[in-house]
Formats: sequence, C-alpha cells, structure tokens
Amino acid sequence: MIICKSQAEIEKMRRSGRIARQILVETGERVRPGITTWELEEFVARRMNQLGVKPAFKGYRGYPCCLCASVNEQVIHGIPGERRLKEGDIVGLDLGVILDGYYGDSALTVPVGEISPALQRLLRVTQEALDLAIAQARVGNRLEDISSAIQQYVEENGYSVVREFVGHGIGRSLHEEPSVPNYGRPGHGPKLKEGMVLAIEPMVNMGGAEVRLLDDQWTAVTADGGYSAHFEHMVAITRNGPDILTRL
Ligand code: MF3
Ligand code: CO
Repeated sequence: MIICKSQAEIEKMRRSGRIARQILVETGERVRPGITTWELEEFVARRMNQLGVKPAFKGYRGYPCCLCASVNEQVIHGIPGERRLKEGDIVGLDLGVILDGYYGDSALTVPVGEISPALQRLLRVTQEALDLAIAQARVGNRLEDISSAIQQYVEENGYSVVREFVGHGIGRSLHEEPSVPNYGRPGHGPKLKEGMVLAIEPMVNMGGAEVRLLDDQWTAVTADGGYSAHFEHMVAITRNGPDILTRL
C-alpha cells in the first residue's frame, strides 16, 4: 500500500528532509584528501545531535553508523572507517534522519580534491539523471516514467544502472512502498498521486551494472571494479508538480 501524505505531513517531511540535506552538504564540504570516512561519520553524528534529530540508518537492520560513505567502486552502504580519502577519489555520502516521527533521506557524490574529467562526467550525468527523474514525478504519470527517465539518460551516456538497489517511498518509515527502480518502461507501474513522497536515488556505474557485497555484508561494490556514483532526493508529488523536500 502506498501511503499518501497530507499537506501538514509534507511540511514535516520538508523539515526532516532539509536537515538531512543540510548535514549532508556540510559533510561534503569537509571532504578533502587525507580525511578518513570515520571523521566524516563523527561530524555527522555530532551535527545530528546538535540539530536534535535521530540517525535513521544507525541500527537499521544492524547498520552500525549514521552515514554511508562509499568510495570509488563502492556503490552504496560503505561503512565509515579508517580509510583515508585521497586526491582523485570520489565518495558517495548518504544519510537519513528522523524528526518528529518523519524520515529524511538524501545522498550525493563528491570529488576528493581534483578528479579526472571522466569522473566529473560520471557525477554530472548521474546528477542530471536524478533531475530528469524528478521532472517526471507528476500527478498522472506512472512510476516507471521516473525509472525509465533515469535508465534512458544513463544508458545513452554509455553508463549502466544498478538493479539490485532501488529508491523507495518514505514517510513514517525509511522504506515504504513503492519501490522506485532506476530502470523501467514508460507508462508502466502505479499511477502517481498527490501526496506520494518518493526517495529517488539513481546508482550509476561506469562499467557493467553488476554488483556484489563485500564480506562486511553491507558494502556494495561493482563486480568489474568500475567507479559508481549515487545521488538522492526526496520528492513529493503535488498538484503543482514535483516538490523536492530535500532542497535547501
Ligand atoms: N539511502 C539508502 C536507502 O534509502 C540508505 C540506507 S542505509 C541503511 O536505502 F543503513 F539504512 F540501510
Ligand atoms: Co534512500
């Protein structure tokens, strides 16, 4: 069942979404060569505390941290640790918060120092795929109009989309129906209705789409070792078009 939110609920979700995004952006600003992903985790935990929100990921199915930090060929769910970021890396940052019973969830991928033009293009195309997907989040469209916008743009740029992980509805739970795949067929899937809130999160690989899990049972990496990028926004479907709840 897809839970549609009232206007008042959407305003609450905008508060949780904006705080998630605010902390995410601040964390991205701290990324530089030499910093460890654990230092980023500590920053996130401190900011969540200061801003009076609870971490959404820590303890979720046993996930140990507030932040996911996924470096280079890591797709998502990288666990912060002693790894030091170095010039030329990319790092996906993903975090969620709970405020007043409602979840906020957002992700972005940032460069570490100067990165190659090829990686700049990967980040740009993934961000643009998310923007095109958001533009499809309108009353009267169907869910896979969002999915196919991502798949088409990513594939025409020579990259691939991950199948094993998907976006999701969000509200009083981190993951609600519907699943929001990053691939699909235009005109398919449930009709989009006013009050639906979706976390749309393309994961884009430079090489093949296949992924595998590391021994920690969390970190998803590309099977071929190609680099991967991830961006995520929460979007409400409204009569006035897509409303990005994680926009600052
Ligand atoms: N943004 C991801 C998601 O919505 C992150 C979940 S990490 C977990 O699924 F630790 F909470 F699983
Ligand atoms: Co999410």
